[in-house]
Amino acid sequence: MNEVLKCLKERRTIRRFLKEQIAEQELHYILEAGLYAPTAGGRQSPQILVCQDADVNGRLGRLNRKLFGGANSDGIHFVSPTQRSIADDDSIESGFYDAPTVVTLFAPERWVYGIHDCTSVAMNMMTAAWSLGIGCCYVSRAEETFRTDLGRELQQRAGIAEHYVARVHICMGYPDGEAVAKERKMERIHFVK
Ligand SMILES: Cc1cc2nc3c(=O)[nH]c(=O)nc-3n(C[C@H](O)[C@H](O)[C@H](O)COP(=O)(O)O)c2cc1C
Repeated sequence: MNEVLKCLKERRTIRRFLKEQIAEQELHYILEAGLYAPTAGGRQSPQILVCQDADVNGRLGRLNRKLFGGANSDGIHFVSPTQRSIADDDSIESGFYDAPTVVTLFAPERWVYGIHDCTSVAMNMMTAAWSLGIGCCYVSRAEETFRTDLGRELQQRAGIAEHYVARVHICMGYPDGEAVAKERKMERIHFVK
């Protein structure tokens, strides 16, 4: 198996991070990988907002967590038994899991492929990050998180036009511990016979 295939297969969602900030050069490689992701019509529509301010990430992460509501764990169906997600554990306060770096991807509100574009960029960034030993968690509710006063203020401060909507957050940092691989449902692959 070549290195790319290995990276794709071994990437795990990470929800426990060391406090140490990721190296600047590594962040650069990750962002660059995002810029080279395919986008609809080659428009390169997504805008990329990087936040490494612990206070801002903490406040925004708590807003994101609140938007999720209560945990729905029944004690059996955990998202991750080793790295609890907000779906599993009511005691988690930040939807960003205290990751030292949070990247938010924005796309124009009326651009029909905006979510696809942002997901494409996110996957390139998460794969690049994993290849560098950095873990990521793809986090939802970006639109609602950035519709808050704090979100709007940050968007404006960053110079991202008002008609751009936040679509995806990617939390990243050095993993704290090992992530356990999830079984894949192989029967999802179908061939025309
Ligand atoms: C569209 C999408 C939305 C997700 N939203 C969240 C989220 O809000 N919070 C979270 O902790 N994980 C989120 N995840 C991560 C998934 O829970 C994770 O990818 C899944 O459990 C499989 O684990 P793996 O990435 O290690 O294979 C999301 C993943 C995707 C693709």
